[in-house]
Amino acid sequence: MEQQKEIAKGHKIILMPSPFQGHITPLLQLATILHSKGFSITIVHTVFNSPNPSSYPHFTFHPLHGALSDTEASKVDAVHLTEVINVRCVQPLKECLTMLLDKEDDGVCCFVSDAALYFTQAVCVEFGIPRIVLRTGGASSFLVFASFPILREKGYFPVQESRMEEAVEDLPPLKVKDLPVFQSKEPEAFYKLVCRFIDECKKSSGIIWNTFEELESSALTKLRQDFSVPIYPIGPFHKYSLAGSNSTSLLTPDKTCISWLDKQEHKRVVYVSFGSIVAISEAEFLEIAWGLVNSNQPFLWAIRPGTIRGSEWLEPLPSGFLENLGERGYIVKWAPQEQVLKHPAVGAFWTHNGWNSTLESVCEGVPMICMPSFGDQKINAKYASDVWKVGVQLEGKLERGEIEKVIRKLMVGDEGNEIRENVMNLKEKANVCLKEGGSSYSFLDSLVSEILSLKS
Ligand code: UDX
Repeated sequence: MEQQKEIAKGHKIILMPSPFQGHITPLLQLATILHSKGFSITIVHTVFNSPNPSSYPHFTFHPLHGALSDTEASKVDAVHLTEVINVRCVQPLKECLTMLLDKEDDGVCCFVSDAALYFTQAVCVEFGIPRIVLRTGGASSFLVFASFPILREKGYFPVQESRMEEAVEDLPPLKVKDLPVFQSKEPEAFYKLVCRFIDECKKSSGIIWNTFEELESSALTKLRQDFSVPIYPIGPFHKYSLAGSNSTSLLTPDKTCISWLDKQEHKRVVYVSFGSIVAISEAEFLEIAWGLVNSNQPFLWAIRPGTIRGSEWLEPLPSGFLENLGERGYIVKWAPQEQVLKHPAVGAFWTHNGWNSTLESVCEGVPMICMPSFGDQKINAKYASDVWKVGVQLEGKLERGEIEKVIRKLMVGDEGNEIRENVMNLKEKANVCLKEGGSSYSFLDSLVSEILSLKS
């Protein structure tokens, strides 16, 4: 490894994130891991949701001006926005690469692109730079995305209400209700985006995953059969000692919640957060609020401003709700999530099952209450509840009585014991895979050798 580091010294890698929290974080963590292996790091990014260069003084940052403004970005959903980026960033990226390659006598080893930025494949070919893809989501959901054309051929798409409980052939244990959908004005746009990014992944020089072999071995084995490019499951990124140390947060975490957690009993608190994109209705918000209160468990709730459709922040709460809450609950706009999940007072994570949240929960041995919303989240939730058996799903209409029941089932009843045991076993596996001889450790070793061999 040390010898590899000497060889990699000064060799440049350019990386480009998709500009969403759940994508920026793993890409910057990967960049930090590669930097620790001796590579020089350049990050090319949109001005919209720009990462903070001051958190990474050892990286070089290049914004792609003219690609997309904040005002434009705020008007469209994530699928549409990704499409816009794939069109508008072509020219600015070409100009940026021309400038960067002019300055680089030694050349660039490779371009690491978020999988969603499929346009980078053709640009890299034009510039003669090998492209490696970072897939920030899990391998199991990727396998489902890769099956989209066949799912359509077999009539699963568009998803029909009457078939929700039907098993999906060839993709056990998924049912039709677990298939990824994206609530959009144009559902076809999501399908096309997925097919396009899968196709461009197949042309790349390799795919990196923020997962580990022991967690998703069956999906990874299948992907190795279906894709002819090398596959590197080298996660969990945030558990590498260096990668978790810098802030990748676009919002400022409210650290006062840690002092509140310090005052709570061991494993009693339910931490609630639905990530950086999911939005809920006012009615759902109120059911969640009352379900939490009625469960009689202490809770920490991260409610991002804008989460409740039509409201700035907490306005829909009935008057007196917060005053009556007292010490039983603590609400913040954005939590230091990794620190929260590590806290001994946290006994469960009520999550939307974004991949980062799912992985972070597994790595800290925290059982999940799964409430997926769109895209890969439904698949992650299914794996958490039915395959890894580290969580319970909140299904059907969101209703306070059901919420109370599910929280109690996990936190108070015996049923939670098996789940707690399973998640602690996975936590141990996540630790072991990063140690010398572990699966992710070895795949990282191969990845570094592969990157060095790509350099022309
Ligand atoms: C998006 C998609 O919604 C998700 O389905 C996909 O898997 C990744 O991209 P997001 O919804 O933001 O991601 O969820 P997630 O992947 O869980 O990422 C959220 C990140 O924000 C996590 O790293 C989490 O630690 C962090 N976070 C979230 C905080 O630091 N504080 C918070 O209060 C909430």
